[in-house]
Amino acid sequence: MPETIELNINGIAKQLDAAPNRTLHDALQYQMGLTGAKHMCDRGACGSCTVIMDGRPVLSCSILVCECEGKAIETIEGIAADPKWKPLVDAYCKWDAMQCGYCTPGFLTTAKALIDRSPNPSEQDCREALAGNICMCGTYPRHATAILEAARNMNSEGGGLNG
Ligand code: FES
Ligand code: FES
Repeated sequence: MPETIELNINGIAKQLDAAPNRTLHDALQYQMGLTGAKHMCDRGACGSCTVIMDGRPVLSCSILVCECEGKAIETIEGIAADPKWKPLVDAYCKWDAMQCGYCTPGFLTTAKALIDRSPNPSEQDCREALAGNICMCGTYPRHATAILEAARNMNSEGGGLNG
């Protein structure tokens, strides 16, 4: 097994130490300093550690770094820094779709992946996409509201979803 792997994180080529027992979440946090993906359950049950891998939301606590060779990873830090996704961040703030905020990066990352694959999601699409994300503060009803508004705003901004 190689000692390091090469992958792409938020658009930048990186190398990560690929110790056989190291999770992607652990590497992002301790090697890359990317602390946005949170660590709530550590067993693939809460969605707080969600990142996007090759376009799909995945649970970074349940993936080993050694499985990520050549993958493209997006984290909440990359999403938040990309002006294209400001409408989604703004909608989350406007609709107060958070309380303590611990689960919020996981929800927002999952929402970004949903809008990427479905630029005009329905409320049911939002609920299904977010079904694996747990919020102990009970913010559930607000996520779909924020996502639907963000998608509308992004579409009305002139095709920003594909740009
Ligand atoms: S910390 Fe990964 S799913 Fe809960
Ligand atoms: S806002 Fe506190 S866990 Fe979701």
